Amino acid sequence: MTKTTPLLIYGAYGFTGKLIVAEAVRRGLRPVLAGRSPEKTAAIAQQYGLEHRVFSLDDGIALQQALNDVQVILQCAGPFIHTVRPVLEACLATRTHYVDITGEIEVFEYLAAQSGRAEARGIVLLPGSGFDVVPSDCLAAHLKSLLPDAHKLTLAFKGVSRMSRGTAFTMVENLGKGGAVRRNGKIVEVPAAHETTRMDFGDGEISMAASIPWGDVSTAYYSTGIPNIQVFMALPKPMIDQMRKAYRWRWLLKLSSIKKYLKKQAEKRFTGPDKQLLKEGKSYLWGRVENPQGEAREARLITPEGYYLTSLTAVEIACRLLEPHRMKGFYTPSKAFGKDFILAFEGVKRIDLTPEPAR
Ligand SMILES: NC(=O)c1ccc[n+]([C@@H]2O[C@H](COP(=O)([O-])OP(=O)(O)OC[C@H]3O[C@@H](n4cnc5c(N)ncnc54)[C@H](OP(=O)(O)O)[C@@H]3O)[C@@H](O)[C@H]2O)c1
Repeated sequence: MTKTTPLLIYGAYGFTGKLIVAEAVRRGLRPVLAGRSPEKTAAIAQQYGLEHRVFSLDDGIALQQALNDVQVILQCAGPFIHTVRPVLEACLATRTHYVDITGEIEVFEYLAAQSGRAEARGIVLLPGSGFDVVPSDCLAAHLKSLLPDAHKLTLAFKGVSRMSRGTAFTMVENLGKGGAVRRNGKIVEVPAAHETTRMDFGDGEISMAASIPWGDVSTAYYSTGIPNIQVFMALPKPMIDQMRKAYRWRWLLKLSSIKKYLKKQAEKRFTGPDKQLLKEGKSYLWGRVENPQGEAREARLITPEGYYLTSLTAVEIACRLLEPHRMKGFYTPSKAFGKDFILAFEGVKRIDLTPEPAR
């Protein structure tokens, strides 16, 4: 079947979905908007005068029908651990390129393992097209280019923003799982916030940061081949204490009734950044690689606010997949578009630093 619809955005009425739709329209695209709620999907489609399609991801037949004529799906409905499987199957069946905005390690690992199937169908799987992991993935690839025999990668970030409902839901979903790092090529579970450090992000203050299970623990391995990876996030001390306490109660946090309760709380508390923060907020990233001889390289990246950046990078990635290309299979952002991909976005600055020798 000829693919007559270039782009379909699923989860279009979510917080981040709406930002992505606005960015796609700003760029002159006419995406088809989709979601599971008939009212909410119709409302956003009407706002922009766009076509819309309503279907549940549980309905495999409807999902396939909706994707039959679509070249690229930009999937914004998460937690992605609950949505990735049906969407992937429909993409394989209909030969539709798959792009999402996940940051979930399990989802990256799952899709990486499906690379062969995607190659056989001639489609690209490109998860992590948002703040997690585009800037950190490009930073990791840049550092690897500076020290090709690096065997250890440490990444850290600080976001000046406010969490959205969906990000909070995804965190609740993963609360019982603790932390994760990559050691000797394998992803290893560690206690939540098991290491802390003090970090200079170049924003004029020294920040406390804790080890977190960020997407790069999965993706940076595919991008760089570096076998030891850890990611830190700047967090206030009381939050780090809470994460550690929660880990002790992780068996409880895995119960669906507790998850439901926490999601209800999150729904009230987390509304995402407002317009001003979206426009003025910034994110700071830092990375370091070390080789077995003790040599090191470090760099920083400054980017726009995380949710806003997500809208820019996700739409750009979808656009690039709509252009003629020879890619098929699983890709990380830097594998697909190079380490300097992130520098194409306004407000992004990369600074190489003179590092301390390896400790
Ligand atoms: N990588 C990044 O940097 C980045 C940036 C932003 C967001 N995210 C992730 O993106 C996801 C969405 O975030 P958000 O802020 O947009 O959240 P949100 O405002 O809660 O929106 C979530 C959207 O997904 C839909 N959805 C959720 N589960 C679904 C399912 N099983 N089937 C169909 N639709 C489903 C929701 O529909 P209903 O309202 O009908 O439930 C809603 O449209 C989260 O997982 C978040 O962590 C990642």
